[in-house]
Amino acid sequence: AAPTASKAVGISASRTFTSSTTAQNKVAVVGAAGGIGQPMSLLLKLSGKIEHLSLFDIVNTPGVAADIGHCNTHGKVTSHTGPEEMSTALDGCDIVVIPAGVPRKPGMSRDDLFNTNASIVKGIAEQCAKSCPKACFLIISNPVNSTVPIFADVLKSAGVFHPGKLMGVTTLDVCRAKTFVAENQGMDVDKVEVDVIGGHAGTTIMPLLSQIPGAKFSDEDIKALTHRIQFGGDEVVKAKDGAGSATLSMAHAGAYFAGRVLDGLDGQADIKECTFVECDITDAPFFASPCTLGKEGVSEIHGFKNLSSFEQALVDDNVDSLKKMAKKGSDFVKNSQ
Ligand code: NAD
Ligand code: LMR
Repeated sequence: AAPTASKAVGISASRTFTSSTTAQNKVAVVGAAGGIGQPMSLLLKLSGKIEHLSLFDIVNTPGVAADIGHCNTHGKVTSHTGPEEMSTALDGCDIVVIPAGVPRKPGMSRDDLFNTNASIVKGIAEQCAKSCPKACFLIISNPVNSTVPIFADVLKSAGVFHPGKLMGVTTLDVCRAKTFVAENQGMDVDKVEVDVIGGHAGTTIMPLLSQIPGAKFSDEDIKALTHRIQFGGDEVVKAKDGAGSATLSMAHAGAYFAGRVLDGLDGQADIKECTFVECDITDAPFFASPCTLGKEGVSEIHGFKNLSSFEQALVDDNVDSLKKMAKKGSDFVKNSQ
């Protein structure tokens, strides 16, 4: 459904249409009963921005939906479980947020999840291509550097790929960057702006610390902060000690990013967030950079400029890995046809 906003329209002194600035919209969470899915669905419900929150998982969705549905905030919640209910869950969606798939355990890389998550993401993309081809797709499932290319290739073969509507969610990297920089600089975390470009795995995560207004870092700080942002996911995996990876901070990041995409669809101006999209700003087919979000998803990809020599070296060193990870995703789709 196309988002529409209605405002109060007085047609006579005695008759006035209902006032509402909330868009008519449907947002689905695929993987809604998982570690990320549950708290993210709760935050989406609490946002009050969503008319219809459609929760889908292969197990346990009814309990999650019944529970979240009792929150007295705007919008209805529906529950859908298993492949036979997936098309109803997705039908007419404006946004589909996808945290489906297995998380890491200590000692694993995100790429170690490829064998399991590639098929899960491919299957979800195939159903999305049929049920809601015009939706914005927000991919959380790891390895993002490969799952986004997988999703793109499935949509492309179905003839329904809209480059501005497929976004890898890299918001957690930005959240970490803002948190760690605010701590280091003694800044108000609400006022810190940091762009994080590249991808979402290890050194492909590239925070542009040289560009933060008002911040001053030593060379050692730059190295240490960059490393901490790049490996923030590992910090959580280690602390959880076998119980999974980041779920709560990711729920916050995912709900925040989905809210910003909704604001863009709703016609709000100047919505800018970093996200991983198909683009030609480097030789890698997908790359994260600040993007403007508009009525059709990403309306402008801003890329990057004025890099420090440290940041330029990071980009130079990581484009090849991003190309390889994208190719691994594309090859998977090609070979499984
Ligand atoms: P989890 O195991 O707790 O939850 C995953 C959920 O996906 C489960 O409820 C499972 O039933 C569901 N699922 C599996 N196959 C499905 C399918 N075909 N359709 C619908 N649902 C399906 O895992 P989690 O901790 O929530 O993490 C989920 C994914 O998100 C992992 O791949 C993890 O690596 C990734 N992640 C990404 C980021 C990021 O920044 N992009 C951050 C954290 C985690
Ligand atoms: C993160 O950055 O926290 C996620 O990608 C999960 C992980 O495996 O680290």
